[in-house]
Amino acid sequence: MLEKINKIKESALREIETIKNAESLKNFEIKYLGRKSELNQILRSLSEVSEEEKRLIGPQANSLKKELEEMIEARKKVLLKKIDEFDYSLPGLIPKVGHMHPISCFMEKVEDVFVSMGFEIVSGPEIESEEYNFDLLNIPSEHPARDMWDTYYVKFPISPPTGGFAGRGQYPIKSYNSNHKSRILLRTHTSPVQLRAMETRKPPVRIIVPGRVFRHEATDAGHEKNFYQCEGFVIDRNVSLANLTSTLRIFVKRIFGEKIEIRVRPSYFPFVEPGIEVDMNCLICGGKGCSACKQSGWVEVLGAGMIHPKVLEDMSRLGKTKWNPKNYSGFAFGLGIDRFAMLYYGINDIRLFYSGDLRFVRQF
Ligand code: PHE
Repeated sequence: MLEKINKIKESALREIETIKNAESLKNFEIKYLGRKSELNQILRSLSEVSEEEKRLIGPQANSLKKELEEMIEARKKVLLKKIDEFDYSLPGLIPKVGHMHPISCFMEKVEDVFVSMGFEIVSGPEIESEEYNFDLLNIPSEHPARDMWDTYYVKFPISPPTGGFAGRGQYPIKSYNSNHKSRILLRTHTSPVQLRAMETRKPPVRIIVPGRVFRHEATDAGHEKNFYQCEGFVIDRNVSLANLTSTLRIFVKRIFGEKIEIRVRPSYFPFVEPGIEVDMNCLICGGKGCSACKQSGWVEVLGAGMIHPKVLEDMSRLGKTKWNPKNYSGFAFGLGIDRFAMLYYGINDIRLFYSGDLRFVRQF
């Protein structure tokens, strides 16, 4: 029996070193100290052996039991220490980080298409002067055309700041004419950047201006106080309305696919002549007519036209490098980014973009 005790001890000593986790330690304990363990059988059999044997084996068996208990405790400590040595600087599960807003994703698609056609991306201030937002675009004060843009005017307690405003790339908000009583406002469209961009450039130019604009609108599924536009314009010799419509047709097909058609209607914007409005096939009904397109099969997506000669004159007058507006012509357009993005992603309410609702945002 003594021999048996020694064998148990030897095999336990060998085995304990290989134990790497709590589960196998538990199994070890069951195997060597459990009710059905060899050692337990020996201890139980002690009542049946002679006094002499009992005196010889008893202490040995009990001391093995103690040793095994100590062995298990010691191993437990080693395993716990291993956990303590865990390198907390290792990367864990991938943390949940944010992602681009659907408007930004769509804006990048738009930028990609125009950049591939040779357009340069320019931005301007979101806080604008009345002069750039209206006057220089051939929209004089008191002219009824101003009603097309419900405007937020900004009151500054001291004097209007110069530059440093939101938007990618910053321009100082300055007036070209210091006598002009120009109020400060939140730009109602991206068109003022046509003039700002031309202050430091001369034709030929191909420019797009993606950016945020503001209008004092009653909000509903199709209107927000705050939304996005992408202005685009080209000034060169012999630019024509045909160049404008073909550029827009290419753009729409690149974004929505070859099957999509555009439709051009005459319209009026004071800074273009002629002015047009462009519709495209309703993507929801495929042109058959549905509630989203008011049964017409078409949705209005942008305003455009040939840059008005008066605006070309203002551009050349304000520009650092002289050029003769009579030798050039240009087209301009203003895409409603939100409206396009709604068609693209199948969103039926513009307000969702600005709701901050995670159930919405997480779908992109
Ligand atoms: N700025 C116009 C608007 O916001 C759109 C437009 C841009 C029209 C360029 C013609 C040319 O309504």
